[in-house]
Amino acid sequence: MTTTTTAVIDLDLPGATISRHVYGHFAEHLGRCIYGGFWVGEDSPVANVRGIRSDVVEALRAISIPNLRWPGGCFADDYHWRDGIGPRESRPRMVNSHWGDVVEDNAFGTHEFMDLCELLGADPYVSGNVGSGSVAEMSDWVEYLTRADDSPMAALRRANGREQPWRVPFWGLGNEAWGCGGNLRAEQFASLARQYATYTRNHGGNLLYRIAAGANEADLHWTETLLRSFDDLAADPAAPAGPFQAVSLHYYTMAGSWSDKGDATGFSTDQWYVTMARARRMEELLTRHSTVMDRYDPHRKVGLVVDEWGTWWNVEKGTNPGFLYQQNTLRDALVASVHFDAFHRHAERVVMANIAQTVNVLQAMILTDPDTGTLVLTPTYHVFAMNTGHHDAASLAVHLRDVETRAVDGTELPLVSASASVKGDTALVSLSNLDADTDRILVLDLRGRDVVGHTARVLTATALDAHNTPAQLDAVAPTDHAGVRPHPRGLEVDLPAHSYVTVALELR
Ligand code: AHR
Repeated sequence: MTTTTTAVIDLDLPGATISRHVYGHFAEHLGRCIYGGFWVGEDSPVANVRGIRSDVVEALRAISIPNLRWPGGCFADDYHWRDGIGPRESRPRMVNSHWGDVVEDNAFGTHEFMDLCELLGADPYVSGNVGSGSVAEMSDWVEYLTRADDSPMAALRRANGREQPWRVPFWGLGNEAWGCGGNLRAEQFASLARQYATYTRNHGGNLLYRIAAGANEADLHWTETLLRSFDDLAADPAAPAGPFQAVSLHYYTMAGSWSDKGDATGFSTDQWYVTMARARRMEELLTRHSTVMDRYDPHRKVGLVVDEWGTWWNVEKGTNPGFLYQQNTLRDALVASVHFDAFHRHAERVVMANIAQTVNVLQAMILTDPDTGTLVLTPTYHVFAMNTGHHDAASLAVHLRDVETRAVDGTELPLVSASASVKGDTALVSLSNLDADTDRILVLDLRGRDVVGHTARVLTATALDAHNTPAQLDAVAPTDHAGVRPHPRGLEVDLPAHSYVTVALELR
C-alpha cells in the first residue's frame, strides 16, 4: 500500500543559517581511525602525501569537510601535546588506556594533524586536555600553534620546521568531564572551564572559539551549570559570550543498552524502528538543552556544539573490542539524515556538530580494509554528500501533514522526516522514509517562489542492513531519482520504503 504525506514549505521565508560546521567530523587516536585510517606513514605502499592517505583526503574533500576535531574524545584528556612534536623517531611513547590499552608511539602529532587539515581544507578543532593536563600546558599549545613572533613556543614550532603560525578557530576545553575526562561535578568543571578559557589566548589575529565540555544526553543540570557560569549574558547584546563561547553535547544512538548495543548488521525490523526512534531523540535533546540555554542567554550568543553523535553498535566479531570497529548500513544512513533534519531545525543554536568518527570507528564515513588498504565509502558518507547543498544555506520550515506514526518503545515515531534550506536561487529538500516496508508518495506544497526546475537523488537498497564492502563498493550508493512529478501544489515525490531522497529546486 502507498500512502501520501504533504510537506508545506514557504520558500520565501528563510530562517537561521545552517552552519556548514554541523557537517563536521571527529578523529580520535582510537583503533584504526588515525593509524591505518588517516595516517599510513611516508613509506607505506598506500598512496600518501607526507604519510597521510591521499584517497581519504580526496573522499573527504569531495564532501567539503568543514572541520575536524582531534585528538579525542577520552584520549584528549590523556594526551600531552609535547609528546607529539619533534623528530618522530625520538617521540616518547604512551599507553592508550581508554582504547585497547595499546602503546601509542605519537607518530601522528600536532604538525601531522595541521598538515592533514590543510590538505583537507578543513578548520582544525583541537580538543585540549583538562582531565590530566595543566593550564600552562594548554596555554603553551595555543601559543605554539598560533603565535607569529619569537615567543618561546613560536620559536619551538619553528625549530620543528613550521615557520608560519597556523589558524586554529575551534578549541575544546576538555571532553566528557563528567566521565572519562575527570569524573568531575558540573560545578567543579564550570570553574575549571572559566580558568582554562582565560589562559587559552587569542594570539595575533587568531580568535579562538572556545567550547567547554558539555552534557551527556539529557543532563540539563550540566548545561544549566555551565550557562550560569558565563559572564552576564543578558547585559549587553553586542558583547561576545565569555570567557568561553560554546558548550557541547554528546548523544549516541544504539538499538540496545550500553552493555549490548545491538549488531550493526543482521538486525530485526523491530530494531530498525527502535534505532529510528532513538535517533529522533536528538530533536528532543536539542529542544530541551536550547530551552535551558535560552533562559540564561536570551540573545543566543552561546553556541551548542554536538561534537559527538552517531550510532554505536557491538564491535564486529573478531575485532579488538577497544577499537570500536563497526559495519555501516542503510540504517546508519537514515540515522544521519534524521540528525541533520534536527540540526537544520535548530540552526539558531546548533553551531557545529561532529559525527563520531570519520574513519574505521563507530559511524564512519570511510572504512579501510586492514589487509589490502581498499577504501570503502559507507552509506553514511553518501548522506553527507547528498546534503552539501545545506552548507551555509538558510533553514526553511517544513510543515508535514498526514504523517503516519508507529508506536515504538512507548513513543510515536513519525515515519517521515524532512528538512529544507534555501541559498539564492536554489533550495534543497531532504526527505527520509523511515518505514521499513511501505513506499510513500510525498506532495511538496511549495509556496512563495516559482520553481522552474528540479533534480532528485535517492539512496536505498533492498535489505535494511545493506552495506558496502571492498568486493561490492556500490551496494548502497545514491542514484538519480526519476520518481518526481509536477503536482498542482508543486511536486509529487516517490519515497521508497527505507530510503533517503533529496530534491534540489531551481527557483525564480
Ligand atoms: O567516540 C568514542 C568515545 O565516546 C569518545 O572518546 C568519548 O568522548 C565518548 O564517550
